[in-house]
Amino acid sequence: MDVLAHIKKEHKEFKKMISQIESAQGEKKKEIFREFYAELNGHHEAEEHVVFPLVRKSAKGKDDEVVLEMIEEHSLGRHQFSILERTAVDNETWDAKFSVLKEVLNHHMEEEENTFMPLARKVVPKEHLDSILDEFESVLETYKMKKKEKLQI
Ligand SMILES: [Fe+2]
Ligand SMILES: [Fe+2]
Repeated sequence: MDVLAHIKKEHKEFKKMISQIESAQGEKKKEIFREFYAELNGHHEAEEHVVFPLVRKSAKGKDDEVVLEMIEEHSLGRHQFSILERTAVDNETWDAKFSVLKEVLNHHMEEEENTFMPLARKVVPKEHLDSILDEFESVLETYKMKKKEKLQI
């Protein structure tokens, strides 16, 4: 499997986790949310450290805009995650805040799959996309664990 197919598979898992968070209550909701926070942190950091620089380099300055937009959307997500983490899950605004995060992430995953990935496939040879999967997973794990430590979970 190449790194892009792997990313797509993870997006599917994230959508499932979003539904689980939406239907959970109280402490359970917070628990799945924090797990999701750590997973997404790993995923976004791995994309930013391993995949985006390679695509930008291979595209040689063309289509930089797409990649830059992906990074900005990650930062919107990070911002909303940190607000949710600081808000009590039984606060009446929590669900509305989460719904905004969901919109940002759904839009982002769609654009990553439909705009970024075709560009990546065009400029990076398939073998290269295969060979960076291990690195992607190891960076992901590192940043996921860092977030877990910070969240004390
Ligand atoms: Fe992604
Ligand atoms: Fe992303």
